Amino acid sequence: MNVENLKKDTEHWIKNYFKNKGSYNKAIYDSMYYSISVGGKRIRPILMLLTYSMYKEDYKDILPVACAVEMIHTYSLIHDDLPCMDNDDLRRGKPTNHKVYGEAMATLSGDGLLNEAMSIMFKYVIENKRGLEACYSISVASGVEGMIAGQVVDILGEGKKLSKEELNYMHKKKTGELIKAPIVAGALLGAAPKEDVEKLSLFGEKLGLAFQIKDDILDVIGDVNSLGKNTKSDAEKNKATFVSQCGLQESIDFSKKVTSECIEILHKINGNTQDLESLTLFLLNRNN
Ligand code: IPE
Ligand code: IPE
Ligand code: MG
Ligand code: MG
Ligand code: MG
Repeated sequence: MNVENLKKDTEHWIKNYFKNKGSYNKAIYDSMYYSISVGGKRIRPILMLLTYSMYKEDYKDILPVACAVEMIHTYSLIHDDLPCMDNDDLRRGKPTNHKVYGEAMATLSGDGLLNEAMSIMFKYVIENKRGLEACYSISVASGVEGMIAGQVVDILGEGKKLSKEELNYMHKKKTGELIKAPIVAGALLGAAPKEDVEKLSLFGEKLGLAFQIKDDILDVIGDVNSLGKNTKSDAEKNKATFVSQCGLQESIDFSKKVTSECIEILHKINGNTQDLESLTLFLLNRNN
């Protein structure tokens, strides 16, 4: 499976979705499209499409659901960057949404992307008469016991020392949930056997944890140009991160350990997990 093609198809679907949208409310589409149109790695839709492709032929059938997850993720980024949250001014190599459109429109754009995503998923279920469980799991993963739970612990953890357990909780929730959900949804949409869904779910949870530890590491040792966001942002806000709580070397070692565990889980699955393995290793070694 060519990951570049999956990315292109995802971006094409999103571009099409926003074509000729809006009237008196056009400003919000401009703002939403500004944040979602370029610069993202698109790993969440790619993970869903790769997982689905282990079980079914035409991944294009599930593009709407894959793009809905990218919309939810982009909403979380717009809100995460707001002055009342992380107060960041660079994202995906461009000024953050509120820097360009103002805080009110940025807030509405986040709301808008989340709501559009839900409508796209409902429409998918209505039209295809399938996907209910997959879409439900995505909605739960985005919610108050999912991504939002992690963001709560992140905000309340500023300036505090968190236990290892709290750190794990925060990372698994704020980032892990939206990494795990597309993998599980891809498996469910592909009608994967129950034991595969369970293994892939555990894989997704660990991949999400490794992904956020790497994000913490890049905030310290990354380069602003390749990262597309400002470095040292976490230290500036006194964020509790893996690096601030365990040190750089321990964080690097731990992200490698969790990545090996991901690969081990994939090896226990009967189907062809080669593409997921390559992506897992790519994410550990990424510089953005
Ligand atoms: C950034 O996510 C925020 C986290 C959850 C760590 P990504 O690193 O996937 O950001 P994009 O989508 O590629 O911009
Ligand atoms: C982000 O964590 C988690 C989200 C739900 C967006 P961070 O705050 O570390 O993400 P970046 O570094 O700003 O992308
Ligand atoms: Mg944050
Ligand atoms: Mg942030
Ligand atoms: Mg970060």
